[in-house]
Amino acid sequence: MATIRDVAKLSGVSVATVSRVINQNGYVNKDTETKVRKSMELLKYKPNTVARALANKKTESLALIVPDITNPFFPELAKAIEDTARSFGYSIILTSSEVNGDKNINYLEILINRYIDGIICSSNEIPEADINHLQKSGIPIVALDRAVNSKGIASIRVNNYDGGIMAVQHLLSIGCKKIAHISGPFHINTSLERYRGYVDTLEKVQLFHPSLIVEGDFTIESGIKNTYSLIEKYPDIDGIFTANDLMAVGVLKALIRLGKKVPEDIALIGFDGITLGTAIEPEISTIAQPIYDIGSLAVHKLISLIKNQHNTEEISRELEVKLVQRATTSKIKN
Ligand code: RIB
Repeated sequence: MATIRDVAKLSGVSVATVSRVINQNGYVNKDTETKVRKSMELLKYKPNTVARALANKKTESLALIVPDITNPFFPELAKAIEDTARSFGYSIILTSSEVNGDKNINYLEILINRYIDGIICSSNEIPEADINHLQKSGIPIVALDRAVNSKGIASIRVNNYDGGIMAVQHLLSIGCKKIAHISGPFHINTSLERYRGYVDTLEKVQLFHPSLIVEGDFTIESGIKNTYSLIEKYPDIDGIFTANDLMAVGVLKALIRLGKKVPEDIALIGFDGITLGTAIEPEISTIAQPIYDIGSLAVHKLISLIKNQHNTEEISRELEVKLVQRATTSKIKN
């Protein structure tokens, strides 16, 4: 296997010059650069990426921090991020803030020390202090799902409040009158915005009952558990809006076990638009986020930050959600 010395020898230049060509740091005359590149090709020389990273403090890798890799929303997002990153020559390192948090590993330090070029943080669970710490390290960050006012951090998000309104308006439009909400965790702003959309819409038509709201945690289990407790207390509920699709899967399972017909007895709508919603019967209506676009835009934004080509006027982008009506809300009631 050819070494950097072989390349230097064949090109008639020093090892330092070859290194400058590989790492593109420092002046090298155009002819010398062409000569070195030809020698590298002839010798089939492959630069050692680890050594290169150490020299450059650049690894052409981006970290993606997600809160829960078992929630299909995040792998779907990761797919978009990986596809787009690959098209720019970057690879992705995936890390879950939840697992690392539990094990008390300082994953932020690990990322910083690995010379990650940039971070896409899709976890709302990360404390503001940690985000500030990352910012101070100088590593470019793009946040997903965070509040627009997060200090100077580029962010991509959807209009969660409008999504909450759309979900409830849709349930009302098919005749639901007693609509429950299984929210996401209330310390997460996406959950709060969806919840506010629910409250405001029902208040306008005087159908708001605070007791029909329960706090979930975005998992199937919390969809199941909260449905049992809701139906036990309020058997006449005729519509449920869950703050994500995974909880809607749990709701559907619980409703079927309780002998309820969906949508005839109870209509159901989730949020996210993950493919799992179409893998079961009846297929689940949802407020779909443009998951692929979110991931792809995040990478474009991050790379422009890394390359200092960022448009500072457009620090955050808010994308629209859309109603996808499926079988769980198909019945028009009177
Ligand atoms: O399903 C997980 C949820 O967490 C998604 O709705 C996403 O927007 C985040 O808030």
